[in-house]
Amino acid sequence: MDEYLKGNFDYWQKGYYAPNVESYVFRMWGQVLQYDFSDKQSSKLKMLDFGCGQGAALSFFNQLGFDAYGVDISEYDLDICKKRMGCSEHFKVVNPVPNKDDDWFDVRGGGWSLVTAFQVLYYYSDDDLQERLLSLYNQMKPGAILCATMMGTKNYFYKHSRPYKNGMRCVTLKNERLSIDNYYVNFIENEDELIKKFSMFKKMHIGYYDSCFREDEGSHFHWTYIGRK
Ligand SMILES: C[S@@+](CC[C@H](N)C(=O)[O-])C[C@H]1O[C@@H](n2cnc3c(N)ncnc32)[C@H](O)[C@@H]1O
Repeated sequence: MDEYLKGNFDYWQKGYYAPNVESYVFRMWGQVLQYDFSDKQSSKLKMLDFGCGQGAALSFFNQLGFDAYGVDISEYDLDICKKRMGCSEHFKVVNPVPNKDDDWFDVRGGGWSLVTAFQVLYYYSDDDLQERLLSLYNQMKPGAILCATMMGTKNYFYKHSRPYKNGMRCVTLKNERLSIDNYYVNFIENEDELIKKFSMFKKMHIGYYDSCFREDEGSHFHWTYIGRK
């Protein structure tokens, strides 16, 4: 496994505290996704949350009527997820190394009507991102939707990073709150770069969300991408 994947794997073993669905997720639903899905709820469409963490978004989509599944590299987070959702067979710990043939729930080339990947795909290098996107694409039904977010260069992590390789930058940041080292991110500079990286999908919408709670840290800028297989 490449050093950058190992660094990110180690970092995430401690988990990611996310007790509630974030506002950009339910706004994506309200502003975009519901127009594709709300009249089909009774059919219990299958959705996958890639990098589901503790399951906040999964729980939201489950309540909307989706048959929701999740994968992540953090066993700690998935244990919380399983308790929260009250079942274990819909969740899997996955290999951090992407493989275009990944098919974690045996959907054989077309099970998911919706795939979400919130705040996770930027933990892949350029080549690995294409491999991971292809694996998700291969598991989706024709016409299915992918919703993803990517960290932008406006995010305050960027100014604490230095080039690594293959699109990745290594972030080092230590303050009273954070101790980040051996942590790697693929930042997106502009909309053209975002569209190019996701070009195997047909673009529906691109956008962004941002917040800042400490002026000594800065912007939490992320791009949003919604596309169709
Ligand atoms: C910032 S957290 C976001 C979690 C969740 N999607 C959310 O929005 O609450 C990043 C998540 O990505 C997962 N992750 C990082 N690298 C991964 C990889 N190579 N494959 C799968 N999951 C990964 C981490 O374990 C962590 O749960």
